[in-house]
Amino acid sequence: MNILLIGNGGREHALAWKIKQSPLCERLFVAPGNAGTSMVAENVSIGVSEFEKLGAFCVDNRIELVVVGPEVPLVNGIRDYFEADPKLKSILMVGPGKAGAQLEGSKDFSKQFMLRNGVPTAKARTFYANQFADAASYLETCQPPYVLKADGLAAGKGVIITSDEAEAKATMREMLEDKKFGEASAKVLVEEFLNGIELSVFVLTDGEDYVILPEAKDYKRIGDGDTGPNTGGMGSVSPVPFADAAFMKKVEEEVIKPTIAGLKKEQIPFKGFIFVGLMNVRSEPYVIEYNTRMGDPETQSVMARIQSDFLELLLAAAKGELKDKTIAVDPNFALTIVVASDGYPDEYEKGKTISGLEEATGALVFHAGTKKQNNEVLTDGGRVLGITGKGKTLKAAQANAYAAAEKINWDGVYYRWDIGKDLM
Ligand code: AMP
Ligand code: GLY
Repeated sequence: MNILLIGNGGREHALAWKIKQSPLCERLFVAPGNAGTSMVAENVSIGVSEFEKLGAFCVDNRIELVVVGPEVPLVNGIRDYFEADPKLKSILMVGPGKAGAQLEGSKDFSKQFMLRNGVPTAKARTFYANQFADAASYLETCQPPYVLKADGLAAGKGVIITSDEAEAKATMREMLEDKKFGEASAKVLVEEFLNGIELSVFVLTDGEDYVILPEAKDYKRIGDGDTGPNTGGMGSVSPVPFADAAFMKKVEEEVIKPTIAGLKKEQIPFKGFIFVGLMNVRSEPYVIEYNTRMGDPETQSVMARIQSDFLELLLAAAKGELKDKTIAVDPNFALTIVVASDGYPDEYEKGKTISGLEEATGALVFHAGTKKQNNEVLTDGGRVLGITGKGKTLKAAQANAYAAAEKINWDGVYYRWDIGKDLM
């Protein structure tokens, strides 16, 4: 069958790489893709939110399955658009409709959803644009650190954590009154601070049944030792040693089951991924956020470990046939280093020639912000490559990933040197 994958990051290269391995896959297209996806699939230059063009492409190319990578088209209603068009509604899709995507698109919605459905999460209060004074008095009653969250999508920048009460109030004012994040901060949540270790758990569901994918740990900050500003993610590891069978059982019983049951009870159809960002607080899981897509760079480590035909699972989810499906997972470790442009997550330059790609053997090299020009691969984003090493031990996976990363170079290459170190 012909498949269209939407997106252009490292997550999409890893998904394309995995989908392409399936005997069920005939032609695989990626819109818009990157230099890496063009090596395993056919790139199509259509943006992720150009629904009309994507729809027309699907009809012209007899696409039977659409897999949506990033959150923006989901929150903007790509599924609803396809379902409303008689020519497109029979096309299968992995990715929820607008209603389901609210789990990621609105932190207020997802918080209320968790509370209604008994999913453990941090306590929170929501304030509206005209309620700055109430929010400021509320902050005075809270214990630091203060956690402020913009309600809507803010490209990973919408969470501000500070121990300084004056700064918390000033940020609150910027968010509510000056619309620091536009409409996304028309509502702001003040959340209780959770002290623990973070974990990313991934579920593929058809709204009734589900399969739990390998879990992963993300390294969010730019600098070694988890210092400096937040990024989209600078590395990942799977499996995560502290996520043992006992902890994962709690996650399934206390988080995953009530989440799926809640979607059913609230009549929110959901065929797609649920990415649960959670905090392990003294061996108890608390949900920090839901995303309705896979994580990046977690997908790179997760796909490297899945042994089952992943396309078969995606199809089953899209058709509502996940019941009795299981997933085979490689017990070995996968560790991903994000190789970035110097300056990211702030200003950085693009268009630098990447060298050493052919020499980076012994690891998987997934592209993120890259593009092909003539016969060269150029940097085209902040996060440029994800290099995934595998090994029987975390140390071996780490050694393989760093050995490959060291072969790669361009003017202004940057990566963290401590991915996986905290777990050893
Ligand atoms: P998010 O954008 O929701 O992933 O949040 C960004 C980061 O802020 C998370 O990865 C956590 O490290 C941190 N964070 C979010 N909420 C909390 C919380 N309630 N307590 C502690 N840290 C949090
Ligand atoms: N790496 C975190 C995310 O994809 O949101």
